[in-house]
Amino acid sequence: MDYFCWFYFLFGILVSSNLGSSSDDKGPIGPVINVTKHISFHDFSSNNPRLNQDLTLLGSVIVSDGKKSIQIPDPEREGDDLKHLAGRAIYSSPIRFLDPRTETPASFETTFSFQFEVKSNSSNESTSDLGKSVGGSGLTFIIVPDELTVGRAGPWLGMLNDLCDDDYKTVAIEFDTRQNPEFGDPNDNHLGINLGSIVSTAAINASDVGVQLNDGSIHRVWISYDGRKRFMDIRLAPEEKGYPSKSVYSGLLDLSPYLNEYMFVGFSAATGNHTQIHNILSWNFTSISQASLRVPSTETCQNRIMLQNDTQSEIAHRKTPNSFFIFLAVVILLVVVLINLYFSSYKKDDDFDEAMTTLPEKKQRPRPPNKARRFTIAEVSIATRNFSELQILGSDEKSVTYKATMLNGCNVVVKRFLTQFFNTHGFEKRQFHKEIKAISKIRHPNLVPIRGWCYDNQETIVVYDFIPNGSLDKWLFGVGVLPWTRRFKVVKDLADSLAYLHSKQLAHKNVKSSSVFLDVSFRAVVGDFGFVLTSTGSTRFESMVSQTADVFEFGVAVLEVIAGRSRKSNPGERDLLDLAWAMHEVQQKETLVDRRMGAVVNLEQAIRALDIGLLCTLNENKGRPTMEEVVEFLNMEKPIPELPPGRPVCLFPYSSTTGLCSGYACTAFK
Ligand SMILES: *[C@@H]1O[C@H](CO)[C@@H](O)[C@H](O)[C@H]1NC(C)=O
Ligand SMILES: *[C@@H]1O[C@H](CO)[C@@H](O)[C@H](O)[C@H]1NC(C)=O
Ligand SMILES: *[C@@H]1O[C@H](CO)[C@@H](O)[C@H](O)[C@H]1NC(C)=O
Ligand SMILES: *[C@@H]1O[C@H](CO)[C@@H](O)[C@H](O)[C@H]1NC(C)=O
Ligand SMILES: *[C@@H]1O[C@H](CO)[C@@H](O)[C@H](O)[C@H]1NC(C)=O
Ligand SMILES: *[C@@H]1O[C@H](CO)[C@@H](O)[C@H](O)[C@H]1NC(C)=O
Ligand SMILES: *[C@@H]1O[C@H](CO)[C@@H](O)[C@H](O)[C@H]1NC(C)=O
Repeated sequence: MDYFCWFYFLFGILVSSNLGSSSDDKGPIGPVINVTKHISFHDFSSNNPRLNQDLTLLGSVIVSDGKKSIQIPDPEREGDDLKHLAGRAIYSSPIRFLDPRTETPASFETTFSFQFEVKSNSSNESTSDLGKSVGGSGLTFIIVPDELTVGRAGPWLGMLNDLCDDDYKTVAIEFDTRQNPEFGDPNDNHLGINLGSIVSTAAINASDVGVQLNDGSIHRVWISYDGRKRFMDIRLAPEEKGYPSKSVYSGLLDLSPYLNEYMFVGFSAATGNHTQIHNILSWNFTSISQASLRVPSTETCQNRIMLQNDTQSEIAHRKTPNSFFIFLAVVILLVVVLINLYFSSYKKDDDFDEAMTTLPEKKQRPRPPNKARRFTIAEVSIATRNFSELQILGSDEKSVTYKATMLNGCNVVVKRFLTQFFNTHGFEKRQFHKEIKAISKIRHPNLVPIRGWCYDNQETIVVYDFIPNGSLDKWLFGVGVLPWTRRFKVVKDLADSLAYLHSKQLAHKNVKSSSVFLDVSFRAVVGDFGFVLTSTGSTRFESMVSQTADVFEFGVAVLEVIAGRSRKSNPGERDLLDLAWAMHEVQQKETLVDRRMGAVVNLEQAIRALDIGLLCTLNENKGRPTMEEVVEFLNMEKPIPELPPGRPVCLFPYSSTTGLCSGYACTAFK
């Protein structure tokens, strides 16, 4: 028995007894406090330095100094073509909208003034649909879970996020100037309350209160919501008339199913075949929610696992009443550890081999939650509902990936490698297992933690943490738009994690945008390791080769992040890597930058990142950097070497089966 087992056994008892009493949210409740937030914009002007910090502009949107308003879409950038655009202006900090303990929504009050400008020439268009042709789609006051994406244009009003069709939590009050019968719109001049759906829960004819939304004049809205009574009141009037005595909507409305604890608030608007410019001229917002101070709960186990170091320190600091117990346990623990150290120092044990042979009695010991461990096939089978097809997240030639829920309620991803894969490719299973173990010991904030593994004669399974926000490719190639600052952060996170892996003489071997995930705070974490080993060559040489292949794939991923499109081109589209080199050759790299990001791109930074990406696709002996150097380039700690003026020549084709070398890279390893 090695002393680690004892350590974890006692540690497990300590953890469970110490947390057990408080981990179910109903733990000791402290005093109740009011959490308030006040936002006030008298007008909008880009000269206001606070505005740049406080507002996140996404998609086609601009702060117009002329009108002192937020304008969606951005008429300066788009010129005369304002069709099919969407934009959002979101207050940059999250606001507490729900007390998760009592499920009570926050109370809030907001007022804003707005004006729609119909472009005079667009009235010239077809008059085929719905009689009147004037007017773009409309504006919403919106409460959304993220400050990163823009929803779909046209009748969707930039509101819904395509990534999460079913469970995108959002609350919106729409001011809709087109009638879309498919969404149940009553007319082309209405208000709507939209709860998680573009189909309004309630729709109100704006003409009833004498307002024509798109008549070019300024209107004002007052929305107030009482979270305790779950009561909403909306008033609308021409700006000059002041606060109206009658509301356009008042009634009970439970927003809690459509809110997370923290949400972002702001405006979204869109145009379709018909256009108009949506101006928001001023905005006040105040929210108040009750929070009870309490012992932190264990509810977000994903976050917890992500940061390796927090569990131990938190447990040590969390509770005071049991300090005597903790003291006692620590003393016992120390004694046991010392005794076991003494005995085990005579024994040179290979942890891995032991795991292979003495599995049955070893497996059940409690361990701290963030330590990777071996799972039994029964555990994995239960978690994936017997590898049910309904749980499948994806598959490739090597493996099938399942979403699974462990008995403790944590969501994980189970990657089950196909037996044929080992048989036909002659990969050494033992080596493979060794590598899984090696990587599972590595912890880094930007690497998806490996929860554990499971293998016997038939099965090779790796269990990862489930990362709730999905993979980067969905964010990049979908209809929503990731803003530049976030993309640049993703590139840095990815570089950091790979540099760290390489510093440990390991390689990822499967770097691509679908292996990069965004966690709950939208940090990039890299998962889906390749693990592929070849049976030839020394391990050291092999690891070096895989690392340079990682660098190449990193370069391609950087290009994808900047261009917002996949290297795998659609029919008729040029290979992204080819295109990037061609644009470099004619010095027009800026044309590669994803246009959907709008004017808020730091172009200089984007071109720098592009250069670094291209550098990574060079031949190894012709200047491909190491990941360590890439990190230095990105942090501006080292100048970027000059790129060759033209595109390097590919001598050997890409070999996906060996994973050895890639793209234009292969001359060094013939
Ligand atoms: C919190 O706000 C409510 C009104 O929303 C008020 O009645 C209560 O006294 C406030 N509590 C504290 C601690 O300020
Ligand atoms: C729109 O109308 C203005 C004047 O009303 C004119 O100057 C402008 O060229 C027109 N734009 C287009 C695209 O027709
Ligand atoms: C716009 O109207 C003018 C005259 O009213 C007409 O000559 C022109 O063809 C129209 N343009 C379109 C796109 O219908
Ligand atoms: C909206 O209100 C106006 C004026 O009160 C009325 O003429 C129109 O028919 C109403 N539209 C609908 C769809 O109720
Ligand atoms: C927009 O116009 C195009 C071409 O005229 C047409 O195919 C499409 O259905 C229109 N979309 C909507 C939402 O009216
Ligand atoms: C918005 O808030 C400011 C200060 O908080 C206040 O002076 C102003 O009157 C408010 N505007 C409206 C329309 O309520
Ligand atoms: C560990 O936690 C401390 C604060 O508790 C933090 O400063 C540090 O960055 C963390 N380290 C890692 C690797 O997350």
